Amino acid sequence: MEKTYLMVKPDGVQRHLIGKLVQRFEEKGFQLIGAKMFRLTREQAEYHYEEHKDKPFFGELVAFITSGPVFGMVWQGDNIVALSRAMMGKTNPLDAAPGTIRGDYALNTGNNIIHGSDSPQSADREISNFFRPEELMTGDYPV
Ligand code: CMP
Repeated sequence: MEKTYLMVKPDGVQRHLIGKLVQRFEEKGFQLIGAKMFRLTREQAEYHYEEHKDKPFFGELVAFITSGPVFGMVWQGDNIVALSRAMMGKTNPLDAAPGTIRGDYALNTGNNIIHGSDSPQSADREISNFFRPEELMTGDYPV
């Protein structure tokens, strides 16, 4: 079963959106197999955003994601990587369609509420950065 790593960023946590965001993915039909509230270490943040390390906004990105607690989640379901990214909307809220998470809740690219893995390979890498195997439910469970 395909898995993804979704993370309510510090702006989403501060705006009390955790419940609404979890509800969207539950109602879509995905299964939540792990979740926790935590604060990223600088090392976890730099590893998570490694592909952006040469971008001018890298420092800002790491500072923002470590600025407060996040709500990290592992979800599973058919085609969950592509479907959850469609539900999140485009990175820049100016391009994010109404009805998507960023279209409905975000005003700028830096503070865009939620992260979602961009491929199954990224999901594996991201999940192992934040979760130990024993923190995740294994296999399918009844819903
Ligand atoms: P996300 O797609 O979750 O992961 C990379 C993040 O980089 C992206 O969300 C944005 O929050 C951030 N980002 C992308 N472009 C910019 C930018 N020009 N300025 C600040 N942050 C950016």
